Amino acid sequence: MDLTVPYLGPLSLSPGMSVSISGVIDNNCTRFAVNLQCGDSEDSDIALHVNPRFDDNDIVFNTLRDGYWEEEDVVPEVPFTKGESFQLIITASAEAFEINVNGNQIHTFQQRMPLERVSAIRVIGDVTLETLNINEN
Ligand code: GAL
Repeated sequence: MDLTVPYLGPLSLSPGMSVSISGVIDNNCTRFAVNLQCGDSEDSDIALHVNPRFDDNDIVFNTLRDGYWEEEDVVPEVPFTKGESFQLIITASAEAFEINVNGNQIHTFQQRMPLERVSAIRVIGDVTLETLNINEN
């Protein structure tokens, strides 16, 4: 499996399923993002955008609909370390995405789009991927 970033792969989710990503944060990381997308293209709707920002010292969560970003959920911490490995797990329920970083629950994002619209996962930015697993649970 080629996990070169930018990475794009297929993803379909139902409640109880999770996506587990591990990798290493680049030494010079400014930002990276994990997008659960409704389609393969650069301008597809994004059901969940997870965007750790070292430059702003926070993580922004959002939805992109018809080319427009909606209201941001902002968690005012970056529980990642430049140059170090990380694990990010996104678990879907019917109502929300639970986001866990390195074993710690960091955010619950209430779903704004039907889960069945998600068809792809894209990872972009200053990060190296090592594993990407989709778990049925
Ligand atoms: C914008 C940024 C996008 C995306 C969005 C999330 O300011 O340019 O890449 O992160 O915020 O709300």
